[in-house]
Order: sequence, then structure tokens, then C-alpha cells
Amino acid sequence: MSELGIGRQRQADIYLGALSGARRSVPVDPARLEEAASKRMSPEAFAYIAGGAGLEETIRVNRDAFDRLRIVPRVLRDVSTRDTSVELFGRRLPGPFLLAPIGVLEMAHREADLAVARAAAAKGVPMIFSNQASVPMERCAESMGTGPRWFQLYWSTSNELVESLVGRAEACGCAAIVVTLDTTLLGWRTRDLDLAYLPFLRGKGIAQYTSDPVFRRLVDQADEGPTNRPRPTLAGLSALFQLTRAYPGSFLANIRSPRPRTAVRQFLEIYSRPSLTWEDLPFLRERTKLPILLKGVLHPEDARRAVDGGVDGLVVSNHGGRQIDGEIATVDALPAIVEAVDRQVPILLDSGVRGGADAFKAVALGASAVLIGRPYAYGLAIAGERGVRDVLQNFLADFDLTMGLAGCASIDEISAESLAAGG
Ligand code: GLV
Repeated sequence: MSELGIGRQRQADIYLGALSGARRSVPVDPARLEEAASKRMSPEAFAYIAGGAGLEETIRVNRDAFDRLRIVPRVLRDVSTRDTSVELFGRRLPGPFLLAPIGVLEMAHREADLAVARAAAAKGVPMIFSNQASVPMERCAESMGTGPRWFQLYWSTSNELVESLVGRAEACGCAAIVVTLDTTLLGWRTRDLDLAYLPFLRGKGIAQYTSDPVFRRLVDQADEGPTNRPRPTLAGLSALFQLTRAYPGSFLANIRSPRPRTAVRQFLEIYSRPSLTWEDLPFLRERTKLPILLKGVLHPEDARRAVDGGVDGLVVSNHGGRQIDGEIATVDALPAIVEAVDRQVPILLDSGVRGGADAFKAVALGASAVLIGRPYAYGLAIAGERGVRDVLQNFLADFDLTMGLAGCASIDEISAESLAAGG
């Protein structure tokens, strides 16, 4: 870290950079960031990333809940040097931030997860590899050196596939497994439905599957099924072309083969298990030594049960408002969960985080860290790896300055007393 600290260094880079003619394409303001990204993406890609369930009330209330909390600064405390670092599962991180798992990043930028992996590693911020990634986890891990990484698991209907994915995550240096529990069914995504666009059907976002030996074997075993295909239309041919191109291997071999189509069908059958219950969790516990976190926990009784069952951490998340419309805001759910868990395991907060002050508020309410989601996908869409790095630097800088201005020199000094309920 520079003498100035993360926040002042970032301000200096931006202001002094402009004096020497540097032009920046990645806006700092979150609304302008989203708008700039929307211009770089297809309507389908932007709808998929920006959209939420139903009337998108949950997206709105996530923000409203943050806005209702107000920071009450303390003055005349020496904050000339600040330490924004936190320790999570034995590893020190530069700030209370992780990159949320986001699927299908190829819709934002051709380098997709790889660009994110490089940016995350450059900043030392953990990237949670998405189960619906566009690039296999091994390729991302290879590009990260010792940079921290975790793996998000969607619990498949095939336990053999679950085991294989978790084994691969261990082998590529992931430090934790995050089981996403709120997406055993896909939410009612109004924007995607109106565009009738689901990226997985085009073979996008299934790279963790098509690179998996168990999945590949299942595809080999599957019949191609009845071939009563409708007469090809232009849209159908374009979908087939995309699907064929997305499948690993040569395009010419793929276009003649049923495998890309079988893989998508297999994926749709296998990707998630709505019948999952608490009784399934020991299966995972027995197969990995890595910390297991449950993502999507919003009820204090579920939080308590998870901890009693030996889970190592929780992610309080409503999936960025993508799953249930009119759901509780995550910062509203957080205090009861913190109380129920009584600091026995780290609690992370996800959904609606748009700036350093949000992270400060979450930490004040008892979170160990927050997950950054859409903003980094927007940085990616605008400027690839550099865009993600810019977004991360802005979060770290904003948090550093907010913390210092609130009179806190380190994370430990942030507490519920730093907050008041506002308007
Ligand atoms: C999948 O995780 C999604 O939110 O689309």
C-alpha cells in the first residue's frame, strides 16, 4: 500500500491522471457505470445481467435498505493510517470484499472469467468462480498465481458431478466452497422472458460442465433422443451456430455431432436439485476439507441450523434480486442472522452493494465482508480486465476513505454504534 493509503492514492491517480491527459472509460458513479456497460452489451446480455425477478422490487429494496442506514462519524481520532484488511478463513485480504459468482460472463466480454480472474488476483480480492462460468475453473486458476479464489457450487441432481466439481475446485486451489441454495429453480426473470433468451440454451455459461469428466461421460451415455426437429428457421440456425461454437473442440467436428445439443439437454436436466434438503449437506462435508459456506440464507433459524450442522460460513444473499420478487433486503435480514449465529462463523453480505459505504454499513451490522456483483460485470463489459480492476480499486478506495472519515482506523473499530437508522 502507498504512503497515502488506498483511497487517497486512487484519488491522486484519477485527478493527476487527468492532468496528464489520461482518459478513463469506466465511470466511478454506479448508475453511470451501468449505463456505460449497457451500451457495450447486446440487449440480451444486458437484460440477463441487470435484470431481476418479477417487478424487480427486490433489486429496489436492497438499495432502499442500505439508504435507510446512516453513518454517524466520530471526530478527532487519528485516522492518518488506516488498515482496511480483514482475515477470512486464515487469509488476509486487502478489504472486506469478494467477487460474487456471476455466470455467463462471456456475454459481457469475450475474455469473460479470465479477465476477472486476472483483475482479482492483481488486487488480491477473492474471486468466487461461478458454477455457470464461461471459462473452466482450471484456466482461471492458472492465470491467478497465488491470488485467492473460491468455488460456487450449484448442487446437481448427480452427486457424482457434485463430487467431481468439488474435487476440481480443491485441485485448483479454491479456499472455500459456496453452495448457492436460492436457485434450485430459476426465478421468473421478466426481462429474459420478454426477450425469450436463456444463454445456457446457446451453450453459454456451461464451461464448468463441458470441461468436467463426469459430465462428459454422462453426455456420452445420453441418447441423442428423438430427432423430430422442427424445420430450421433463421433463428434456429443462429442458435445452433452459437451452440456449436461454444462447445469445446473444433467447429467442424461439432457441427456434425449431436454432442453440443446433447450437452445442453444434459445440463438442463442435471444442473440443479430442487429436492435438496438439510440431509444432503453431510454428503458434501464428507467429501471436502474446505470450508463450506451456504449462500442465500435469509432466515435466522436457517442460519442457526446451518451453524449447528457444522457449516463454516454464511452468505446473506437474495441473489441480487434475481430469484424472488418482493424478498427481504439483505441488510434488513443481516442483524437477526448475526444475532442467531453469535459470531461463531463469518457472515458475508451479498446483493445491492454499490459502494464503499455499503460495505461499511454491512460491517457495522456484523458482516465480515461483502460480495461485489453486477458492478464488476459492468467494468468487465466496458474495459475487460482493466475495467474490473478499476471497479475493485474504486470499492477499496471508497471504503478506505469512508472508514477513515467515520473515525475508524481499522475494521475492528467499525461497530453498530457507527450507524443510525435514517429517513
Ligand atoms: C444464475 O445464477 C443467475 O442468476 O442467472
